[in-house]
Amino acid sequence: MLSREIRGCVRCPLHLGRTHAVIYRGGEHPWVVFVGEAPGRAEDLAGEPFVGRAGAKLDEGIARLGLAPTEFGIVNVLKCRPPANRFVLGAARICRPYLERQLALLRPRAVVTLGRWALRSMDPGAPPIMTAAGIPRSVGAWDIYPLLHPAAIRSHATAQRWKRDLGTLAEWLNEKRG
Ligand code: URA
Repeated sequence: MLSREIRGCVRCPLHLGRTHAVIYRGGEHPWVVFVGEAPGRAEDLAGEPFVGRAGAKLDEGIARLGLAPTEFGIVNVLKCRPPANRFVLGAARICRPYLERQLALLRPRAVVTLGRWALRSMDPGAPPIMTAAGIPRSVGAWDIYPLLHPAAIRSHATAQRWKRDLGTLAEWLNEKRG
């Protein structure tokens, strides 16, 4: 089983610092999957993605989208917390097959990436996040909608951008909902 495999993973040094591998939170058959970057301290302790401060911001955004709890799921590119919460590209290359397998199992109709590292992991050729955010893209089998990372909303300008991109995302999702 994939989650058991991830929990026992020792393929990169990040496993040395983990309390829990952080795998998934959400519905059993979500049609929208949010892809974050890496667990922080709260997530490492709880073993669930986005349960800290960034998670509260994300949940608030998801509520605005009108998605019911069964309709969405949340994963991260990295399953173990990196030191000082700094994304580790080498670890992401090793961890990436887990994300692919999660998406292959969940088969969502829409993938929403959160922040530049999640976008880059799904689409290495994507432009910088401030250009790409708010504009849907297709990569292989996936319809992707890039958003800023909720932890990056620290100014009035980024808050406005977050709000605007969520509005466009709501329309895009409504089209996909069918
Ligand atoms: N930031 C992320 O990218 N993922 C989490 O799970 C928490 C914070």
